[in-house]
Amino acid sequence: MMLVSGDGKLARALVNLSSDDLQVIKLPKKVMDITDEYEVSETIKRYMTQPNYPKYFVHTAALTKPMSINDRNPIMSLSTNIVGTANVAKICHKYGIKFIYISTDFVYDSIDGVDEDSGLKPSNNYGWSKLGGECVTKLIPESLILRCSLCDIPFRHKVAFDDVYRNSIIHSDVAKIILKVKDEIGVINIGDKYQSVYNFVSQYQEVNKASGVNIAPSLSLNTEKLEKLINE
Ligand SMILES: NC(=O)c1ccc[n+]([C@@H]2O[C@H](COP(=O)([O-])OP(=O)(O)OC[C@H]3O[C@@H](n4cnc5c(N)ncnc54)[C@H](OP(=O)(O)O)[C@@H]3O)[C@@H](O)[C@H]2O)c1
Repeated sequence: MMLVSGDGKLARALVNLSSDDLQVIKLPKKVMDITDEYEVSETIKRYMTQPNYPKYFVHTAALTKPMSINDRNPIMSLSTNIVGTANVAKICHKYGIKFIYISTDFVYDSIDGVDEDSGLKPSNNYGWSKLGGECVTKLIPESLILRCSLCDIPFRHKVAFDDVYRNSIIHSDVAKIILKVKDEIGVINIGDKYQSVYNFVSQYQEVNKASGVNIAPSLSLNTEKLEKLINE
């Protein structure tokens, strides 16, 4: 069994891949609020009593959108993305459940070809809170951090930047990758082809072009480690 925190887009994409070989169960906030250490402990303990007890936990729950919510509510950001991650990680460690933390490419400092060992320096509270979650995860032996370049489709904006380049990837592709790399340890960058955000979004829906160089940085992710693992 694989447990997944939250009921967001990635949690749902993982549940869609549930099979007889690996049952995937999501835990929405109303079932398990990650900021409530007791509730986290009791919920996961209940699953451990089942014959098909959980071997993996994918921690997708986070204070995410809009990213600025983390700037406006720094304590909620800390409680959810750092303390909430610690609540889940500690219980997973206690029961020997593999802890997989979903991070973001927003933790990186540089913009060109960042690999898993590149410098980290987030530019906003969301990035810092996700890096805080990475620090928590680093203390859990045999855990896995996935730095994803996820982009929401449907795209919520009327325009997409044609001069901002990223390795954007959709949730369902990341879910498939998670199932392939779930036994790995350490940090892995997860992204698709390096292309403009406009080109990426245009594959899925109509959107207008706009310039965004002064709003959002381009960032190219080195995904060689991922490619090697997937082609093994
Ligand atoms: N989408 C992106 O652009 C992107 C990019 C890179 C990395 N990521 C990371 O990837 C992961 C999954 O992203 P996503 O796009 O699937 O996010 P999402 O759709 O925004 O889902 C986030 C989920 O977390 C839940 N949550 C928030 N606070 C919670 C709490 N206290 N207890 C339990 N659940 C709580 C939310 O529940 P409520 O809705 O009920 O509050 C929601 O179901 C996140 O960790 C995110 O940081 C996302």
